[in-house]
Amino acid sequence: MYIVGVFYSLLVLVSANYESYKVYSVIPANRTHIELLGLLLSTDKLDFWSRLSYDSRSVDIMVPPQEQRDFIMYLKKHDIQYEVLIDNLETVIQREHVKQQLIPRTFRGKISFSKYNTFNDINAYLYQLQMDYHNLVKLQNIGTTYEKRGMVVIQISSNPSANNPIIFIDGGIHAREWIAPAQVLYIINQLVENPANRDLLDDVDWHILPVANPDGYEYSQTINHRMWRKTRSQQAKNCMGTDANRNFEFYWGLSGASSNPCADTYKGPKPFSEVETQNLRDYLLKIKKNAKLYLTFHSYGNLILYPWGYTSELPHDEFELRTLAKEVNDAIVKAGGPSYTIGSSTNVLYAAAGGSDDWAKGVAGIELSYTIELPGGKKNGFDIPANEILKVVNQTFAGMIVYGKYISVKYKDTWRFPEK
Ligand code: ARG
Ligand code: ZN
Repeated sequence: MYIVGVFYSLLVLVSANYESYKVYSVIPANRTHIELLGLLLSTDKLDFWSRLSYDSRSVDIMVPPQEQRDFIMYLKKHDIQYEVLIDNLETVIQREHVKQQLIPRTFRGKISFSKYNTFNDINAYLYQLQMDYHNLVKLQNIGTTYEKRGMVVIQISSNPSANNPIIFIDGGIHAREWIAPAQVLYIINQLVENPANRDLLDDVDWHILPVANPDGYEYSQTINHRMWRKTRSQQAKNCMGTDANRNFEFYWGLSGASSNPCADTYKGPKPFSEVETQNLRDYLLKIKKNAKLYLTFHSYGNLILYPWGYTSELPHDEFELRTLAKEVNDAIVKAGGPSYTIGSSTNVLYAAAGGSDDWAKGVAGIELSYTIELPGGKKNGFDIPANEILKVVNQTFAGMIVYGKYISVKYKDTWRFPEK
């Protein structure tokens, strides 16, 4: 039986192979059910893939074999309905892996949207763009990771001396959310390589970090570690990694973050304990004067979230945040995409402090700050199957056009950055 308390669970550190892991879709019927699931969430023993909130219709939960008996007993005891979404996760991961292998490797500098790219392929593409479009593209290494990989920001600007407002975008803070770097790469691809989008560069500069957690991303692409979420720093004798999206110094640890180094939502030993979050912090502080919009891509759940994540209180400019999100969603829906749920992180999800979005707004002063949770793969696994990437990233791009136009209009003519 589940006893709620602090567990130094072995789950995370032994989750090497996903043989017999199951993913259940649990269907709470009332608030009590939601609260009972909330208690399960707080044990850190199970991996909640999708959001749990008072309006959740179903919640996807990954359960390791040794927990399945107690889990089912708990659901039955409380009369909570469920379905088996994935019977054996290893099979799904193997299938995903095989499909990936069948697709020919990208030749250097070409990027694919029919597979999930490796970190090296992504960087090769960025370097290729810098060579091919040297008057549009500049790369900036913003620092190295724990395992000494370079974190590369691509700066896209048709007029770098114009002192334009900046849109900053990142993806992949959470390693296993592979669709996020894919989405961000597609935004880069469209802004740089599609002349039809050139007007999006007229009054706005775009600074983009496609892989915010390179060590974790690489690790999640090695066999047996598909579900890795955190960074890869050593935290305890047997536990690696910090949840980078709980590591930012803004009400750090106040809510929705774990103090257990083995947990998937571990906040780290101190704020900005991770070199990756430090690098991102330092870069955002460097561009904060011009940065007007921060977008961070995650998966999954079809959500457009804005601050705050640490409290249910709403920011002073909630109306603007919500109205813009609605316009973005309308454009995505018009392009054939899914409809996103819009709201503040705490109100739409659970409270979780230490996120990059809260920090970007609360500390760096980038008032328009959003977390976008892209669609997931449901019975096909965590992310959508590789052959659906192009469709989804293209639909989402319609929303990026709205963001770009909004920033360009908001800061055009009526407002200019003071010359330094
Ligand atoms: N799924 C994301 C996470 O759990 C949502 C983050 C929303 N933002 C926040 N500050 N809580 O990290
Ligand atoms: Zn995430």
